[in-house]
Amino acid sequence: MARTTETVQRQTKPFLLQRPMSANVSVATALAANVTALGIPVFEAREPPKNLGLSFDRLKAAGFTAKPASTLVVPQADGPLMVAVGVGASDALDAGNIRDAAAAFAQAASSQDRLAFSLEGIDQLPFEVAAQAAVEGLLLARYEYTGFGRERKASPIEEVILLTSSAQEAAARSGAERGHAYAKATILARDLANTPHSHLTAMQLADLAIKLGKENGFEVEIFEKQALQKLNCGGLLGVNAGSVEPPCMIKLTYRPKGKATGSIGLIGKGIMYDSGGISLKPNDSVHARMKNDMSGAAAVLAAVAELPELGCSTSVTAYLMCTDNMPSGTAMALGDIITTHGGKTVEVNNTDAEGRLVMCDALAIAAEEKHDAILDIATLTGSVMRALGPDIAGLFGNDEALIKQVKRAAEATGEPVWQLPLHKPYRKALDSDVAAMRNTGPTGAAQPDGILAAMYLAEFIGDAPWAHIDICGTAWNERDQLWRRAGCSGFGARLLLDIATNFAPPTPSTRH
Ligand code: BES
Ligand code: MN
Ligand code: ZN
Repeated sequence: MARTTETVQRQTKPFLLQRPMSANVSVATALAANVTALGIPVFEAREPPKNLGLSFDRLKAAGFTAKPASTLVVPQADGPLMVAVGVGASDALDAGNIRDAAAAFAQAASSQDRLAFSLEGIDQLPFEVAAQAAVEGLLLARYEYTGFGRERKASPIEEVILLTSSAQEAAARSGAERGHAYAKATILARDLANTPHSHLTAMQLADLAIKLGKENGFEVEIFEKQALQKLNCGGLLGVNAGSVEPPCMIKLTYRPKGKATGSIGLIGKGIMYDSGGISLKPNDSVHARMKNDMSGAAAVLAAVAELPELGCSTSVTAYLMCTDNMPSGTAMALGDIITTHGGKTVEVNNTDAEGRLVMCDALAIAAEEKHDAILDIATLTGSVMRALGPDIAGLFGNDEALIKQVKRAAEATGEPVWQLPLHKPYRKALDSDVAAMRNTGPTGAAQPDGILAAMYLAEFIGDAPWAHIDICGTAWNERDQLWRRAGCSGFGARLLLDIATNFAPPTPSTRH
């Protein structure tokens, strides 16, 4: 099913279809002989666990005061490399501190591949939560994109072992399993987004989704061009018009084993590469990262892939809207009018506002399905990146209970969001003289693009509770920062997993 163009020479075996899955993760009550590095969390002004063999004063004399994510490697005559890891003040401890500390340890011991992390003395938060955060921090900190033969800087992790007391073992094990699944999701999302578009076309992503569906246990249906025409997906087809690569809509269906406790529609923007189209982007550093314009679709696929293992009780129907956005003689032009799924016509006054065009077809389809909530995630607007920077995603929505669930998941996963307003008076900027609406505000004028994009999407969701997450800034890390690695961040995969696995259908009383 995968197609290739002649212009770019591809590897014969796509990296993503062959990548072996990561480390072994386990829990133990005693240190195994084959462990090569041991991380020991230390609180500020508190005696460290005995297995470190040093008092707090001795650590302090060596310049280590247990500040969050600080490390001190303590050489030993033999045995594993010992690393003291700061977790800050004991009363301020949260999952984020532990994730950061585990990441700092993984980096301090970057040449070691069998890592044990002690959870001794960590009793300020549920053990399950601590174990999950530790596993995420360890695995994500050592992530490197290796699709194209770049030499690794740190060795890959073979083994992760959490050390706990026997009383905590069961809770730690369940947290560790969850952390492993969450980390796998983020790692897959990073790999997908880091892969350039000529090595991961829409149809190659479809192949990968089919493979993951078979292996992990969810249904996958691919809608190619003809099927999209039948469905009247003029948004996705319009954006694809300039491309030599065919478009596709990838539908993923996850059904829980027992009776579903709710149902979510998920939509991901899958622009494999965004050149801007006829509204061509300038040749700048932002343009240079547009291979990641499918980060929303990557997060959705990566999250859905882990739902079976986590035994999620909510059913999830997901749509990945995939194509690249290219200029050519057949590309959409400014002033073109397209008809989207459901019949709404849209005047295209900027072909670089393509994300909302591909998403609106799927939102309309999901709205017909009457889910308890619809969520979409997209690298949608530079405007939200400028407003919130690289750390925080923009959040929009029409239902307080749903917004609350997204915010809670953001706290839990360390993938922050900030709610922005759907300010009704701005809506008229999307009025068109020739179609039902247009895709952006007037060209040239200063526009609240992030808000307008969200208000455009809101036109397609019917009366469903809905939240929109704009990850334009957060999809990319400029530099390494503990478990956040330079390049494509995989932001959203763990956030969506956490929303789906804790989902409670909102009641009508919380609708705006
Ligand atoms: N994919 C871009 C958004 C983007 C910008 C992602 C920078 C990552 C970094 C999106 O398709 C886009 O081009 N948006 C335009 C919208 C505008 C034309 C209304 C933008 O933000 O400039
Ligand atoms: Mn664009
Ligand atoms: Zn885009």
